[in-house]
Amino acid sequence: MAALTDVRFLGDTPNDIQTVVGILKKGGLVAVPTETVYGLAADALNPNACRKIFDIKGRPLIDPLIVHVYSRDQVETLAHWSTAAQRLAAAFWPGPLTLVLPKKAAVSDIVTAGRPAVAIRMPRHPFLRKVLKVGRLPLAAPSANPFGYLSPTQARHVCASLGSRIPYILDGGPCSIGLESTIVDLSTPGHPQLLRPGPITAEAITDILETPPARHLKHCAKARVAPGQFKRHYRPRTPLHLFASGTSPSLTARDHKVKVAWVTLCRQSVSLPTGNRNVATFWLSKSGDLNEAAHNLFALLHHLDAQSYQAIYLEKMPAEGIGIAINDRLERAAAS
Ligand code: TXA
Ligand code: MG
Repeated sequence: MAALTDVRFLGDTPNDIQTVVGILKKGGLVAVPTETVYGLAADALNPNACRKIFDIKGRPLIDPLIVHVYSRDQVETLAHWSTAAQRLAAAFWPGPLTLVLPKKAAVSDIVTAGRPAVAIRMPRHPFLRKVLKVGRLPLAAPSANPFGYLSPTQARHVCASLGSRIPYILDGGPCSIGLESTIVDLSTPGHPQLLRPGPITAEAITDILETPPARHLKHCAKARVAPGQFKRHYRPRTPLHLFASGTSPSLTARDHKVKVAWVTLCRQSVSLPTGNRNVATFWLSKSGDLNEAAHNLFALLHHLDAQSYQAIYLEKMPAEGIGIAINDRLERAAAS
């Protein structure tokens, strides 16, 4: 793993933004902040630069990339709009919503993994918006983590896991939302599909489209059928066990003797397991606020994963609002 000094952290000064743009224009990669999670960005119109993303993350080439844009005009050069897409973009961009649209020729197969549709989002983070505005480049960016590992919501998470492989991180502070964008596939007219639940809920999308998006297969072993919907994903190295909201499960026999982290939604929401004095308690939101829980989730899991816990027990969220998206990530993170 790289020492912190191997990586250059950049800020939003005009000089630093120019540095980031210069690297991207030359086909280099930079880790960038978004309001959801940090992304590993490359010029989306440069296939060789995009290929480096797959190498660095250890990501299979069958898993396509999201393209980040500055303006709705920029979408015209990349994809075919529909009325449904225009309405969702008007309601939620810039913000944590990704739209999958029929692609135009400018988008190469490496970005879409050979699929006829491209995923596009207009992010809200002010630092990334400056890069997109100054650079006038659409940026392909998956989350800036090794494939399958916890998503990064702070610059130091990126540094700890990819620091030996990327020289530059644009440090925009902790991501305000902390959970990946909602993905809606609009590539088949009249059949919107929710590919990934996220901060923009299915209800909010239904309100705009006046028809509920179909929920795509939840878990799929074959990424070709549902790219990115891998059953196992977002995993800490420490074994993670989930328990139902409001319940108090017992520890496994093995975990009675070892150091265990016990994570609940709010402070003292459930009682502690008995019989193990080595249980450290954590909560995601003092008041049980699900948005605060989303903001803290990956940061807490990164923290726990860097300690010597032998197991993490974590309470699932109530299945409402962003709690649905948190549970989606947790189920993949805990999948065996
Ligand atoms: O919030 C986010 O979406 C973050 C930030 C960095 O923007 N990005 C992110 O990217 O989560 P990634 O690559 O970690 O997850 C993107 C998901 C993957 O599951 C991928 O398979 C899916 O989007 N995806 C990308 N392009 C697609 C396409 N053309 N069709 C269907 N799914 C696509
Ligand atoms: Mg990811």
